[in-house]
Amino acid sequence: MKITAVVASLAAIAIATPTVNNVEKRQTSSGALPTVTVKGNAFFAGDERFYVRGVAYQPGGAADAADPLINIPNLTRDVANFKKLGINTIRVYTVDNSASHDEGMKLLADAGIYLALDANTPEFSLNRQDNQTLYQSYNENYLQSIFATIDAFAKYSNLLLIINGNEVINERNNTIAAPYIKALQRDMKAYISAREYRNIPVGYAAADVAENVDQQLAYFDCGPDGVRGDFFALNDYSWCDPNTFTGAGWDKKVERYTGYGVPIFMAEFGCITNRRDWNEVAALYSTNMTSVYSGGLAYEYTTEANGYGLVSTTNGKVAPNADFTRLEAAYKKTPNPSGDGGYSATTTASECPPASDDWEVTDDLIPAMPALAQKFMEDGAGKGPGLGDDVTPSQYGGESYSAGMVEMDGSAASSNGGSGSGTTSGSATSSSAADNVVIPPFMMMLTIPVFVTVGGVLAGMGLVL
Ligand SMILES: *[C@@H]1O[C@H](CO)[C@@H](O)[C@H](O)[C@H]1NC(C)=O
Ligand SMILES: *[C@@H]1O[C@H](CO)[C@@H](O)[C@H](O)[C@H]1NC(C)=O
Ligand SMILES: *[C@@H]1O[C@H](CO)[C@@H](O)[C@H](O)[C@H]1NC(C)=O
Ligand SMILES: *[C@@H]1O[C@H](CO)[C@@H](O)[C@H](O)[C@H]1NC(C)=O
Repeated sequence: MKITAVVASLAAIAIATPTVNNVEKRQTSSGALPTVTVKGNAFFAGDERFYVRGVAYQPGGAADAADPLINIPNLTRDVANFKKLGINTIRVYTVDNSASHDEGMKLLADAGIYLALDANTPEFSLNRQDNQTLYQSYNENYLQSIFATIDAFAKYSNLLLIINGNEVINERNNTIAAPYIKALQRDMKAYISAREYRNIPVGYAAADVAENVDQQLAYFDCGPDGVRGDFFALNDYSWCDPNTFTGAGWDKKVERYTGYGVPIFMAEFGCITNRRDWNEVAALYSTNMTSVYSGGLAYEYTTEANGYGLVSTTNGKVAPNADFTRLEAAYKKTPNPSGDGGYSATTTASECPPASDDWEVTDDLIPAMPALAQKFMEDGAGKGPGLGDDVTPSQYGGESYSAGMVEMDGSAASSNGGSGSGTTSGSATSSSAADNVVIPPFMMMLTIPVFVTVGGVLAGMGLVL
């Protein structure tokens, strides 16, 4: 959400009985779900179109960043409610990448539920405050945590996708973060490929900032495949009941995003201005939208300070509220469209948006991956730092920032920055979870990030464009 940058998403398996049955049939005896892949502008589980149908799951809220997937008693209790809702996906905003998730992921898989996973944590995220905090926070320590999260979850077939940033751009005036978010997107995809994992979809979850959301969509989908997102997720609270497809302006969004290169889904929805009847559910899973959209995640499961919850918690017991019951009913009466929902099997990359007062990204350059992160590509990331109080937050910088390692010529565009040649410090990501976190003062470093062209970086990493 724009306000708190928390994301939760549920993708529910279609309540529509045909879909549920098919998904269940595909489960193996071990309870594993079929992996979901991207084809054109849609997700597929096997040869069946997959629509995200779910809820955001962030017990404790963004302020209390905890990993809900390792709290097995609570998760077991909540999975029962997820099944009741008839969902197929939950979104989790923070995980402990030093812990095993075998048990939690199996609980989800056994219930037919996939995970949409945010890779950032409050301690390991970009700092969007300004240009300098951005490149300082984009460093090898940050990437080590991100990559360790990938290592921790890549083996689960019900890992649906990984979100590389949530609402990092959350105002008209902080689009300067975009190149850093995109650099991370590139690095994650490169890491997944280098470690020979399956093609786990990686993409960004955007705040619905009126002045720049369209540019965000275009930006994260432009350029060579190695830097483009595999999907684009929108936190969209623009439908407040009572409303309609046209009244909420969702018809115009479908028009604008027709022809987009990759799947789009709502990583959060559910405006609470008035009573939530969840009438947007019928629109979202209707053919009015499914040629462009692939479902979404209702925000959010637990009730936190911002008042969006579907259950209330008292003395460790959860009780579904009226919003829960109405959402359950809305999902239940809304099957997925039959067939493929009118998706586009063949798509092309978007054009990069031009710079403007609302889009302060002047060219197609993104920061080179910090040289010291290159070793992770060959050796793996090693043990994740987790969420403990004793970790050193990556925003203070890594070795990348030491003066001797930073090129000071200040040049922007080098088209041949091979791997390792770009010493970039820069961190600019606040994950969803990081939004409520107070960032301590950072070291003042007079470093200038080295930018290389997208093609140069990829070529340097030995990737084919
Ligand atoms: C941020 O830094 C880059 C690289 O030094 C520079 O090109 C750009 O103009 C800066 N943007 C702002 C808003 O200061
Ligand atoms: C953006 O605007 C907000 C006020 O809306 C201000 O607090 C913030 O410092 C600005 N950020 C930048 C990077 O200029
Ligand atoms: C689909 O769009 C039509 C035309 O705008 C509208 O009448 C209808 O109610 C929409 N269907 C849903 C389920 O929103
Ligand atoms: C998880 O369960 C414990 C009791 O086992 C409870 O104290 C705690 O509040 C629960 N957390 C949430 C977010 O529901």
